[in-house]
Amino acid sequence: MAIEIKGRAEIDKMRASCRLAAEVLDFIEPHVQPGVTTDRLDRLCHDFIIARGAIPAPLNYKGFPRSICTSINEVVCHGIPGDRKLCEGDIVNLDITTILDGYHGDTSEMFTVGQVSEAAQKLIDVTRRSMWLGIQEVGPNKRIGDIGAAIVDYAAREHGYGVVEAFCGHGIGREFHTAPQVSHVGKRGTGIRMRAGMTFTIEPMINEGTSRCDILDDGWTAVTTDGRLSAQTEHTVLVTDDGVEVLTLRARDRR
Ligand code: MF3
Ligand code: CO
Ligand code: CO
Repeated sequence: MAIEIKGRAEIDKMRASCRLAAEVLDFIEPHVQPGVTTDRLDRLCHDFIIARGAIPAPLNYKGFPRSICTSINEVVCHGIPGDRKLCEGDIVNLDITTILDGYHGDTSEMFTVGQVSEAAQKLIDVTRRSMWLGIQEVGPNKRIGDIGAAIVDYAAREHGYGVVEAFCGHGIGREFHTAPQVSHVGKRGTGIRMRAGMTFTIEPMINEGTSRCDILDDGWTAVTTDGRLSAQTEHTVLVTDDGVEVLTLRARDRR
């Protein structure tokens, strides 16, 4: 499939949707506390997104029943909000995708509930850093495989973690998931060349142990096969004429 190159007007719409997705994370962060249910976090995000004139992309996407994904502890991704209460020591990924003016913005972040173990905090730190190392590989004429190569070099070779292969980053725009596929275990010098105007996500899922995943009977929830922890962070990025623009940066991370 051909990879879409976005023009000025489309890029502005991507910027707006992505900024809104980042604002949802800012909004929800103080609510991530012991005792809150994932359904409550879902409802709060849903209402925030609707109030801003946007649509939560996950809701009814291929039958997904909620407006955000909430992935706790051994859940790798696509956790479905429900009556599970967050507990002291949990780590949780909140994955937000907005549709504003027809364009998708997709970002996710890890949150810690109360005090978490040193091992959990290290997994989160390495995951976030691996995403940033991947983002640093983005630029015109560079190869898409270099992104995953940087991620796997750091998270797996350096830290011994499992880098999930079953789920990838993806092109994004009017569609939620489109070309290119962005592997987080890429090989240097392989894959398509990036071009200015492409937008895609980088969203490594990093596991304490094995990289292997199972899907629960709900058809969505991906878990580690060994029950150990998994972490993920995600940004939507734009390839620019001279490098990369991170479209889903949160206010506190913008200059
Ligand atoms: N936001 C996820 C991603 O990063 C996709 C969620 S699909 C859903 O690609 F249906 F589970 F919401
Ligand atoms: Co995504
Ligand atoms: Co996402």
